[in-house]
Amino acid sequence: MKTFRTIKSWREFREPMRHKPIGFVPTMGALHPGHVSLLETSLAENAFTVVSIFVNQQQFDQDHDFQQYPTTLQSDIRQLEQVGVDALLLPDASEVYADSYRFTVREHEFSKQLCGAHRPGHFEAVLTIVMRLLNLVRPDNAYFGEKDYQQLQLVRDMVTAFFMPVNIVACPTVRESDGLAMSSRNGQLNEQQRKQAVALYATLQQSKSAQEVNELLVALGFEIDYVKDVANRRLVAARLGNTRLIDNVRI
Ligand code: PAF
Repeated sequence: MKTFRTIKSWREFREPMRHKPIGFVPTMGALHPGHVSLLETSLAENAFTVVSIFVNQQQFDQDHDFQQYPTTLQSDIRQLEQVGVDALLLPDASEVYADSYRFTVREHEFSKQLCGAHRPGHFEAVLTIVMRLLNLVRPDNAYFGEKDYQQLQLVRDMVTAFFMPVNIVACPTVRESDGLAMSSRNGQLNEQQRKQAVALYATLQQSKSAQEVNELLVALGFEIDYVKDVANRRLVAARLGNTRLIDNVRI
């Protein structure tokens, strides 16, 4: 695997690149089997797979969330090599935001709802970093997990709105054996919270109204940001202590 720490070195490599198609998986590191499934899909569908690890501070609306976000670079690199990823981009914030975050991408409707209503600035920061990374990598296909469903929809809509020449590929949520959606944040749960967390997916699957699911989850000790039906999906965001969990199912 080739590793690129500067934008200049990546661009020099990318410019003459003849591989087709190129797949891209943007991440913030702390890789888990959910990421590995995105990588495996990209490897199966592309001649060359690029992954980025960039912990995008701008998208953390709470300082403590950024501070406690896990960094596991050495084990991430080992996993990427094992899976057979071709290139790793490890850009520095000073280069990614050489404009001091003067230019951003803002969406004015869906990004204000659901997670956006509880995390001001979050989706602006996500769309901004995703656009920057897509412009740098110039992939044919870019892979996003369905677990972050609102993010996936917003990225799709942005790519369409700005006529960006990339295909956004949605990959199904990967779950622990007890159903909990894999997330880099799961490791922040203590033993008791980890047991409680199982109820999130189990409750979401019940054929009850969103309001009833909300009430059930409150009774089980969750602090609810929202339980909401959007088109053919039910989406939830709920907190256990300082840890915010999200999930969604098709309805
Ligand atoms: O889903 C994530 O890990 C992040 O939001 C992303 C897409 C890598 C942007 O920082």
